[in-house]
Amino acid sequence: MKTLLPTCIIENEPLARHTWYKLGGPARFFATPDDEAELAEVLRFCRASEVELFPLGLGANLLVDDEGVDGCVVRLAGPFWERIVADGTRLTVGGGVSLAKLVKYCEKQGLSGLEHMAGIPGTVGGGLRMNAGGRFGDITKPLEHFRVLDADGTSRSLPFDESNFGYRKSNIDAPFVVCATFKLTAGDPAAVATKTKDVWEYKRQSQPLGGRDGRSCGCTFKNPPGDSAGRLIDAAGLKGLAVGGARVSPLHANFITADATCQSRDVRHLIALVRRRVRQACGVSLHTEVQQWPPRRRHRQVPASHS
Ligand code: EPU
Repeated sequence: MKTLLPTCIIENEPLARHTWYKLGGPARFFATPDDEAELAEVLRFCRASEVELFPLGLGANLLVDDEGVDGCVVRLAGPFWERIVADGTRLTVGGGVSLAKLVKYCEKQGLSGLEHMAGIPGTVGGGLRMNAGGRFGDITKPLEHFRVLDADGTSRSLPFDESNFGYRKSNIDAPFVVCATFKLTAGDPAAVATKTKDVWEYKRQSQPLGGRDGRSCGCTFKNPPGDSAGRLIDAAGLKGLAVGGARVSPLHANFITADATCQSRDVRHLIALVRRRVRQACGVSLHTEVQQWPPRRRHRQVPASHS
């Protein structure tokens, strides 16, 4: 018997509308559950129909194939998923809250501890799953605990444990982060604003930020231990290297920008070319930070994104 489609799911939604790159074909199913009850309905539908889940955040750190995704993309947006609840200096925030909104909120309230996340793309949920961050620290710095939802609908609360997080990775195997609690410190609002602005300024001067620079997905590769992917790609002489409408940014070599003609396959081919050239020139194998849908993998697992 055919399982009824929950009302929060639509079919054949173009994913280019939902990614920073504005690239990628359609999702077979696209779900926007309003709350946990609707999400549970989506999960039941996916299990019953054997449809693969693809959690989506802001589509920042994501490259979707031109052919799209044969599965159910789930976007956690709206008041429930994007709530910020304050209890003194402790903030509990929904998994769908953008890091930009969270940093702005802290700045306004004079709460210190997340200034280093200014300019890091993505949502809290995606940020936790991949331990997002930059040269000034990562998202777990003030993290206390968080709650996840498994594909079978089970919810679990987990305390922050450093050993479960590494550089740009976590061992969170549940597809959804429902909420996270951060313990911040009461700071001087002006000092928090200055610190946030300094982090932003560093980014503005060193990275392409869209517009005339071209769209990007943030950093393409993870930094290899003790070095910087941007420095290595630059040292290999690859700034400006292009495949179709995709180009290694002349501003920061770890960014691949897309012009109006770009297709996902251009970015994919350029990623492969950059990896090969850096290996030849520097003897280092780079690994992608950007998530690719469908994922390239040997073992079946829940694809991470929400960023
Ligand atoms: N560098 C070059 N050439 C380049 C780019 C960088 O020589 O084209 C050199 C820089 O001069 C610097 C070093 O490489 O000495 C590191 O560069 P940068 O300070 O820009 O930091 P990054 O490691 O490239 C990281 C994060 C960014 C984050 C910044 C600032 C990763 C993979 N990237 O960049 O995160 O914005 O720190 O906090 O960890 C992202 O994840 O999307 C992202 C943009």
